[in-house]
Amino acid sequence: MDKIAILGASKPHLKLYTKAKEMGLETYCFAWAEGAFCKNYADHYFDVSIIDKEKIAEICRKEKINGIISNALEPAVPTVAYVSEQLHLNGLTYKTALRARNKLLMRQAIKDANVCLQPRFSLFKKNDIPPTSFPIIVKPTDSTGSNGVTKINSSDQFQAAIKRAFNASNKYEILIEEYIEGQEISVEAISFHGKHYILTITDKETTGAPYFVETAHHQPSSLNAPLQQQVKEYTEQILTTLKIDNSASHTEFKINTNGDIFFIEVGARGGGDFISYYLVELSTGYDFVKGMIDVALNRFKPPIFQNNKYSGVYFLSKETAYIKEFIENNKNSSWVKEYCIDDTPLKELKKSQDRSGYIIYQSNKKIII
Ligand SMILES: Nc1ncnc2c1ncn2[C@@H]1O[C@H](COP(=O)(O)OP(=O)(O)OP(=O)(O)O)[C@@H](O)[C@H]1O
Ligand SMILES: [Mg+2]
Repeated sequence: MDKIAILGASKPHLKLYTKAKEMGLETYCFAWAEGAFCKNYADHYFDVSIIDKEKIAEICRKEKINGIISNALEPAVPTVAYVSEQLHLNGLTYKTALRARNKLLMRQAIKDANVCLQPRFSLFKKNDIPPTSFPIIVKPTDSTGSNGVTKINSSDQFQAAIKRAFNASNKYEILIEEYIEGQEISVEAISFHGKHYILTITDKETTGAPYFVETAHHQPSSLNAPLQQQVKEYTEQILTTLKIDNSASHTEFKINTNGDIFFIEVGARGGGDFISYYLVELSTGYDFVKGMIDVALNRFKPPIFQNNKYSGVYFLSKETAYIKEFIENNKNSSWVKEYCIDDTPLKELKKSQDRSGYIIYQSNKKIII
């Protein structure tokens, strides 16, 4: 029986565990005990931080693991790569994973290879002269879930944005970017032995400035066909340039009203917010999570698409308080796949974790609220 190591054990990881079992694998779960929701779904559990790469490598070597995986969890990306490299398993190199974790290194590589448009950018270090042209985006080089990302319009907002970015950063490195106004999308893909398979494009709704937290995702994208084609080509070039050759990926772009496509960032893992572990399968019929596990076990087969449906998720928050009534009125409809309303007061969205519920749909048309 093949053995798979899975990093992370919070609810979004559950599909990794249930799918691995369905595939007849022996599962090894690595996560801190606190909040380790999935540990009871695994055959073996280790109370280890997902960033403790040496310890995880040591256990995986001893247990003769055949593949290692995580999903939708940025801090796990370097550990997964480190262990696969050390144990000669299929995956990314550690160097590739570190670059994919760093928004500055990523931007620099895309600029050097001249792949596509991206916002002008610079690193901001302590004692540097503050920027003078606005609007700009201030963000940590290592953020996730929009933590510490702020749009500012004038110099008097700069210190507060810097402080916010520093507080959200483990590396204390701040990136300043030109602000791009436009529609936001992400491209969901899986790569095996350097060949990239684009699965679908996701349209996003966000709170907008200043914090840009996503409030909804929809698949497939409603972008016109030529733009979708261009976005797919850029994604393949970006993945090749960054050597993201053996993993799922989630590549974000913004498209302005002229149709100019700007690269925002790529994650060398499936997208969070249900995108990779729920919406892709609902809209395309392709079992993305199985694909990720097959890549890790070095036995991936090119995707076959079976569905042609619409899927999406709406998130509940103070800004989207109307979603609560929408969920209550529609929760028994056949197109509702899952919903949740937390028993807490609605919060203003400053980061993804501030959300208070969601509703996931699958339908023959886009569900518009
Ligand atoms: N240069 C930019 N111009 C315009 N909008 C931007 C820019 N950079 C970031 N944003 C907006 O802020 C959001 C969060 O930024 P980014 O993706 O870099 O951070 P993140 O922490 O990785 O967020 P997430 O995990 O939600 O993707 C983007 O999805 C986008 O909406
Ligand atoms: Mg992002």
